[in-house]
This record gives sequence, structure tokens and C-alpha cells, in this order.
Amino acid sequence: MKVIFVKDYDEMSDKAYEFVVQAIEGSENPVVGLTTGGTPRGLMKRIVEGVNSKQIDVSNTTMLNLDEYIGPNEAVYSAKTYMYDNLYNLLETAPKNIFMPNGAAEDLDAEVQRYNEILAKHPRDIQICGLGTNGHIGANEPGTPFDSTTFIAQHTDATIASTMNEYGITREESPTEMLTQGFKEILESKHVVVFVSGSHKAEAVKAVIEGPVTTDWPATNFRDKDHVTFIIDEAAAALLNK
Ligand code: GLP
Repeated sequence: MKVIFVKDYDEMSDKAYEFVVQAIEGSENPVVGLTTGGTPRGLMKRIVEGVNSKQIDVSNTTMLNLDEYIGPNEAVYSAKTYMYDNLYNLLETAPKNIFMPNGAAEDLDAEVQRYNEILAKHPRDIQICGLGTNGHIGANEPGTPFDSTTFIAQHTDATIASTMNEYGITREESPTEMLTQGFKEILESKHVVVFVSGSHKAEAVKAVIEGPVTTDWPATNFRDKDHVTFIIDEAAAALLNK
């Protein structure tokens, strides 16, 4: 994997946006995999500005998501709410396709299959990922096998705490499961970008960059993958030896 060090959240968002633009400009029918949470808010803003100022044209671009919480589509925490509030409702030109897992599907096994078929038909040029405080990617939590495929994951307590914090909800209101791309689908993307900001991610960054490769820290699965790029800001890199 490659690692790019940047100063702060804004520089991290700029760099991630550059990679998204490269992916969009580098393909006739680009497919861009996005994610939700605190980390991508700056990236979403940049995509909105880029599209609405006509710096980038997304009319041939397919956009899809890394994961979705199991719960109502309109929940404050849902990836659907996030994507429409932060991106899709703000774009003056719509992307060619928008795909999301349906976290409210009655038959979740069938939904996993449906989303996997969409992924198979839409190979990603870029997949953006955040990093959990426990090293998770999507909802590939500690202990998940490195060859996981799209599945319904149970969140750990650390992840539930992050969700409560991010969306200002109680433990009872917080979702505990997600439909997530597995490592297999994530790594099928031509380029995987993991971006990380803030001191609360420093322990995970240290484990991912300097610790042993282990399913205890899921993102260590990327250590030997040349098409994965980490973008890490100073606060998140603070515990690294060098
Ligand atoms: C969440 C989600 C991921 C997200 C990650 C980091 O639990 N499952 O999709 O990328 O954790 O979230 P944040 O950017 O808010 O730190």
C-alpha cells in the first residue's frame, strides 16, 4: 500500500477529491464507490462544488456505496440519508446511476445477493473508505476473515459508540448491523483510497502501518496491496515511530 501524509482534514479532503477526479476523468463510464461518516463530509462538499462549477462532469459516472446500516431508509444515520443530504440532492447534474444497499430490505440475504450483482456489473474505478477507530473497513470489523464477501455485519461496541457520536443518537437508537462490501469486493476496485483524520484514529493508524498483519486490525489486510492508498493527516499519524 502507498501512504500519503497530509497536514489536516482539509488537505486530506483535497487529496481524496483529486483521486476521485482522476478516476472520473480516466474512464468513459467511471464507477465511483463512496462511503459515509465524518471523514467524507469534506470530500462530498468538494464533489458538489466540482460538479456544480462544471469542473467535473458526472453524467456518465455511476456512484455507489461501500455499506449501509440495517434500519429504515430515512433514519438520520442511514447512508441513504447521508448521501442524499450531502451529495445527490445538491448536484445540479445527476450521476448516470446511483446504487445503494437497501438497509430496510425484508429479506437481507436476497439484498446481499442483489447488491453483489450490482457490484459485479459495475467494477469500481475507485472505492473510498474510512478507517474505524478499531481498524475496520466498511463494516469488516476485527475478526472478519481477509477474504470476506458482501455480508451483514454485526458492529462492535466501539463502532456503535462512533455511530452514536457521529449522528447524535442514543445506544437504543443506534443501528447494530450493516450490509457491507467484503474485502473481496473492496479490493476489486482499481484503486482503493482510505482516508484518515484526527487523533482518535491514531492508535488504528499505528496498528495498520506498523503492527503485525492480523484480522484483529482489519485494515492491515491492505499492507501488501499496491492499489491501496492511505491518506493520513498529522493528528492521525501522531503515534507513528517515523
Ligand atoms: C463507520 C462506517 C464506515 C466509515 C467508518 C469511519 O462505522 N461503517 O463506512 O467509513 O466507520 O467513520 P468516520 O469517518 O465517521 O470516522
